[in-house]
Amino acid sequence: MKKNVLNIGIIGYKFMGRAHSNAWQKVDKFFDLPVKPVLKIACGRNEKNLEEFADKWGWEETETDWRKVIERDDIDIIDIALPQHLHHEIAVAAAKNGKHIFCEKPIALEIDQAQEMYEESEANGVVHYLNHNYRRVPAIALAKKMISDELIGEIHHWRCAYQQDWITDPNFPLTWQLQKEYAKAGPHWDLNSHSVDLAHYLVGDIANVMAMTTNFVKERPIASPDGQGNLKAEALSNEKAEVTVEDASLMMVNFKNGAIGSFEGTRFANGRKNKLSFEIYGSKGSLSFNLERMNELEFYSQEDTTSLKGFRTILATEDSHPYIKNWWPPGHIIGYEHTFIHAAADFIKAVHTKGRIEPNFKDGVSILKVLEAGLQSAVERRTIDLH
Ligand SMILES: NC(=O)c1ccc[n+]([C@@H]2O[C@H](COP(=O)([O-])OP(=O)(O)OC[C@H]3O[C@@H](n4cnc5c(N)ncnc54)[C@H](O)[C@@H]3O)[C@@H](O)[C@H]2O)c1
Repeated sequence: MKKNVLNIGIIGYKFMGRAHSNAWQKVDKFFDLPVKPVLKIACGRNEKNLEEFADKWGWEETETDWRKVIERDDIDIIDIALPQHLHHEIAVAAAKNGKHIFCEKPIALEIDQAQEMYEESEANGVVHYLNHNYRRVPAIALAKKMISDELIGEIHHWRCAYQQDWITDPNFPLTWQLQKEYAKAGPHWDLNSHSVDLAHYLVGDIANVMAMTTNFVKERPIASPDGQGNLKAEALSNEKAEVTVEDASLMMVNFKNGAIGSFEGTRFANGRKNKLSFEIYGSKGSLSFNLERMNELEFYSQEDTTSLKGFRTILATEDSHPYIKNWWPPGHIIGYEHTFIHAAADFIKAVHTKGRIEPNFKDGVSILKVLEAGLQSAVERRTIDLH
């Protein structure tokens, strides 16, 4: 007989730890699930902070050693809410112990690490999910449906920019996101991984890439370990160290289906807090999306009567739109945190049926191949073909 609960062990308790805990807390209240997720055990290094987190979010137990969490027989799911330099080792160990894996993006630092995460998960028959959560924004899922329903036609252009502004102050400290050994790269890895995932989802596979990167602030004050990563980071002192990732990246691509595309990733766009925007231009119509107005999708149809032609704004909150009927009546908009709940719902269903969910570690490998080629292109100043 199948169990009627799935016990979760989460590793990491800051930004993503909170976003994931919120999702596990709420998912079975808004979605009909075949099995109930239980917030069983939270893991992190600082015992005091961990206790506070577990109390606040309703985790039953705490543990400071992630290996002990993975070795427990009663844990079904490992939720990896840690910086990307830690994903590989933990995911591989979790897969070997037969745990299903809900993992933050970007998948890892290196392609071969991502490949091993994929192969070990498949070999051990565990469900693996990579949290490119924007696929589960209702307006983006609607864009996917409109493309599949051939409302856009043959896609010619993909134009994407992911812009933030949280490090424009040169005294913002050197958090883990600004150090190669923890992050691999800057916005090219962190932000463009989301953008490339969306391009794969909405447009298709990429044939070749050409990229440029730059760095505006070369040194920053060393960060206090307590404030790391929550964007409220504090400097330890005036002592500075080198920034080892780029501050901005521009990448151009050809898609295998003939479309052409561009990606901008930056943390230096003053005034843009979390503006992931894309435009798609096809033979029959166009789409435009901006995450800072995430309930809306702009659509232009070449098939409209000439006198009525123009972009219209679809508020993606009708019952017929993806995911939204589980929430409120039409027009009662949703936010960033809901995308994690949508992902949690699909993941729980996949675990229950031992089915598949996308994006997964295989998608993560494909994304890293594009991003790695972009870094190589920026260094070698040439177009790189993907195989
Ligand atoms: N999907 C999204 O929208 C989204 C948004 C932000 C971050 N992320 C991704 O989530 C991941 C985590 O980012 P974050 O913003 O939550 O970071 P964060 O700095 O807020 O939290 C990181 C957590 O990892 C813990 N940690 C760090 N090193 C550790 C170690 N050696 N052992 C155990 N714990 C350790 C920290 O204590 C903290 O709890 C990153 O890979 C990031 O790219 C995804």
